[in-house]
Amino acid sequence: MLAAAKLNLFLHITGKRADGYHLLQSLVMFADVGDRLRIRSSPVFDLQLCGEYAAALASEDRADNLVSRAARTLAGVANRSPDIAVELEKNLPIGAGLGGGSADAACVLRLLNEHWGLHYTTAQLADIAAPLGSDVPACVHNTSLLMESVGEQITLCNITFDVPVLLVNPRFHLSTPDVYRAYAPPFDTSIHVPKYFTSLTALFDFLEHTHNALQRPACVLAPELDTLLEQLGDLHGSRLARLSGSGATCFALFDTADDCKQAADKIQDIYPAYWVQTAMLRGN
Ligand code: C5P
Repeated sequence: MLAAAKLNLFLHITGKRADGYHLLQSLVMFADVGDRLRIRSSPVFDLQLCGEYAAALASEDRADNLVSRAARTLAGVANRSPDIAVELEKNLPIGAGLGGGSADAACVLRLLNEHWGLHYTTAQLADIAAPLGSDVPACVHNTSLLMESVGEQITLCNITFDVPVLLVNPRFHLSTPDVYRAYAPPFDTSIHVPKYFTSLTALFDFLEHTHNALQRPACVLAPELDTLLEQLGDLHGSRLARLSGSGATCFALFDTADDCKQAADKIQDIYPAYWVQTAMLRGN
């Protein structure tokens, strides 16, 4: 099953809770690229990693991986043992603002819900997912949506078309807590977000009046992102260039897949060492 990369088309911060977590409004879409998970029955829980970014997780204790925690959490709720072996193909850069780990956790919840015949609804699975991380409930839904509160308040959004997207990761990691710490108010005022978009033009017109509130602090921590974002904005056919989540992945949206592909070639020429990926954000 594909654990789809998550993209924050915009991310506004509207306040901060007493526990330090920030209140958000963020419109999210999911791409047709991501990690891949496969499961099979096993006497004991097991997690095997493969793929381009598996080595980056080699030093991590497997029991701490969000996939293992998600499997244990669901097994606990369902009062059964996590008798499952998971193979995780790690294709997305780690800590990239693409929700990779969250998508992996959500994916294992959806796979196990089916494999164990638990019949939890998506909303129930999203509730079970919430303690695992702010983005995991959204990734359980795996469709265009608006995230509010600290991420657990979800309103599905009907975006009726696919959106060509160029994803660029500079292959360095930005820590989410560090980026939030570098963020300084004033907070954004809460905005009305349409529940459906029926054309690319309507979506781009709406997004023009939004931003990613974490972009400024991320660029302070990693000034090279400023240059990259400017270059992404200047590419032929680029309609919006922005940071996703807390970075360091930046993205550009295009009207056509052709423009997107040509832009990818250009960026890869400029930055041979960067992770450059074209994709489609999936409409419903
Ligand atoms: O929930 P998650 O593990 O993704 O959050 C990582 C960190 O990001 C939190 O520890 C917190 O510092 C910050 N965060 C925040 N407000 C949010 C989500 C995350 O301050 N809504």
